Amino acid sequence: MRPSIVRNPVGSERDVSVGPWCDGERARRYDCAGNRHFYGTLLTRLVAGAGPFPQGRGLDLGCGSGFATEGLLQAFPTLAWQGVDVSAPMLARATRKPALSAVSLCHAAAEALPHVAGSFAVVVCNFSWHWFQPSAGEEVLRVLRPGGWFLVSAPLRHFSSAEGNRWLARRLHERRRSFRRLASQGVRIEEMAQLLPGDMRIHRLESVVIEERFPDGRALAATLESRGSLQAIFGDSDLEPFTDAPAGGVAFEWHVGLLHAQVRT
Ligand SMILES: C[S@@+](CC[C@H](N)C(=O)[O-])C[C@H]1O[C@@H](n2cnc3c(N)ncnc32)[C@H](O)[C@@H]1O
Repeated sequence: MRPSIVRNPVGSERDVSVGPWCDGERARRYDCAGNRHFYGTLLTRLVAGAGPFPQGRGLDLGCGSGFATEGLLQAFPTLAWQGVDVSAPMLARATRKPALSAVSLCHAAAEALPHVAGSFAVVVCNFSWHWFQPSAGEEVLRVLRPGGWFLVSAPLRHFSSAEGNRWLARRLHERRRSFRRLASQGVRIEEMAQLLPGDMRIHRLESVVIEERFPDGRALAATLESRGSLQAIFGDSDLEPFTDAPAGGVAFEWHVGLLHAQVRT
């Protein structure tokens, strides 16, 4: 069975025509082996200690090309998984993956989900929550059933002394008047619970560090661009300002917040 892409009759509240994954070429750059490893690692860290969940449906919200969805299918095979994303090119890539053939994919915005209330036992946002508008929280709470679980991984605002992070921080400082506030800087771990849409019980809240090594700064910049990070921070993804990237092996640290919360019954 091939997955189907269901159009959201409500429509997207947000113009993604200029977003990091707006066209087929950007989705192609995103959907590479290095990113599969990175997002898969994040997902593994996120689901550690989660479940077992009751039978039902699971929602991978902001599923992109399906890296986390693959991990969710393996970790919780008894749930019926659905992926939702606002980018049609990303969903088109997920549709072509045999490993996702049992997953139904839905083209919708997190802020306007086309599902009835209480449809899901679990909603997972693996490095996607920070792209949504705040109203997505109300939608998550609406579609989760009582006792349902919400699992989130999100980038944390954190100083790191790794060479790649210091280089990016210098770029941020130089271009501080132009970088975008919303998605750019992440949240602090102690602010993460404030992302929760309502009165939920927190079972896990912790920060982890994931380190990556790149052959040189150009490779780091290209990876950050493919993940939408440069666009999130600077509002564009022009790699030209990054020509002074450090040479030689470059380390980069991602500080990531992990949250497990449950709707009170
Ligand atoms: C970092 S990528 C995907 C990460 C994916 N969860 C994974 O682990 O592979 C973030 C995704 O969020 C999606 N996205 C951004 N804003 C969205 C919104 N308002 N509603 C739904 N999806 C959105 C983007 O299209 C993109 O595919």
